Amino acid sequence: MTLILRNAHLLSGDANPDRAADVDIGIRDSRIEIICAAGSTSIAADREADLNGLLVLPGGIDPHVHVRDLGQAYKEDWSTAGAAALRGGFTTIFDMPNTIPPTENQVALEQKREAVRAAHGNVDARFWLGATDHTLIDLEAMLQRRPADVVGIKLFLAGTSSNEVVHDPETVRAVMRCAARHGLAVAVHEELQACLDAAETTGLPDHASAHGQHRPRECTVEGTRLMCRLAAETGCTLYLVHVSTEEEVAIIREAKAHARIVAEVTPHHLFLDEEILHRIGNVGKVNPPLREPRDVRALQQAVRDGVIDTVGSDHAPHTLDEKARPYHAAPSGFPGLETTFGLLLNAVNRGVLPLHLLPRLTSTRAADVFGLVDRGRIAEGARADLVVLDPAHKWTVDPVLFRTKARYSPFAGMQLTGAVVATLTAGVFVDYR
Ligand code: DOR
Ligand code: ZN
Repeated sequence: MTLILRNAHLLSGDANPDRAADVDIGIRDSRIEIICAAGSTSIAADREADLNGLLVLPGGIDPHVHVRDLGQAYKEDWSTAGAAALRGGFTTIFDMPNTIPPTENQVALEQKREAVRAAHGNVDARFWLGATDHTLIDLEAMLQRRPADVVGIKLFLAGTSSNEVVHDPETVRAVMRCAARHGLAVAVHEELQACLDAAETTGLPDHASAHGQHRPRECTVEGTRLMCRLAAETGCTLYLVHVSTEEEVAIIREAKAHARIVAEVTPHHLFLDEEILHRIGNVGKVNPPLREPRDVRALQQAVRDGVIDTVGSDHAPHTLDEKARPYHAAPSGFPGLETTFGLLLNAVNRGVLPLHLLPRLTSTRAADVFGLVDRGRIAEGARADLVVLDPAHKWTVDPVLFRTKARYSPFAGMQLTGAVVATLTAGVFVDYR
């Protein structure tokens, strides 16, 4: 055996937390070979780690990461994003297509794969393809090749960061039909550009604290309503990224009855409201914007109710220099890979979320929705992608220690209870203790 993890408290996505069990996990090369009751095996291994009852979950799957690299390697590259992912407990990440070049044709996709290879990392990389009003032919050509590393197609209904906007509902319909034919999901950035353009912003403060008024909530609510309708019409699986409002929760709850809707929340929309922007300014500038306390409450309830399926970090690195520009010129987004698990465990400790939902939110649901074979579950024979968590470890978010190039966070200085202490990806064990 190459590695034995002793005394692991397994939490594998089962709805019944009492079924969590203390086990020893034997790993040979990249696979789990044996799981048995703790202490019941005397098998020798090249390496052993005693986890002393720490939690073990399937390695995290983050469906929403902006890795950048290539034309924006100064913001982040596959090496730093991969290291940040593993430090944050994520063994699989889905890269968004609004990169330079955008992932809208075969050449760009190959360039991205090459950048992943060149980084020599251990993180499992998957790709969202981008679609625009004029690249549908390229999209179809890419999908004809049945790429196993493609999880779906992303559409931006508004401008946010290095992306082209889809304006034509016929494009949305065509993309949804195309995705349904290929068994893929469609992800949408729900804010509607026409609505944002029509928003009355004269007289608003030129400061991040007014970002939610500059990009009003109606624009994302209307976008989500429209997308749910089109998903029902076309039969595609719709992956709604970064749901941020109470109204969207109500729309999704209703739409799930007659369409294939999967909803994602980010840790920042789940745990922060716009009040913090007075203090942190552009560091917290993000699209869609941070909202009101009532939205935070509704999102937390929606996670508990199962209306929200997944947590995606929307890890969106920019340089600190860029974030230091005046409000209007500063880019939106901030890093998230290294704080997600700590924030979720902290919420469990505060009684906001039940522990048993963690595997579902961070891996098992995404593995099911995106058809990731061998991910999001812990079983003999499965790939050894695991995260080890210490639910009692207290720490303070200090971006100086981040692996990402973007060393700032809206959560900086926050004291959390619960941390990632080790990650195992395809049998490669990194212990951060
Ligand atoms: O704030 C954001 N930043 N929202 C997005 O949707 C895109 C992201 C980015 O790529 O920087
Ligand atoms: Zn994003």
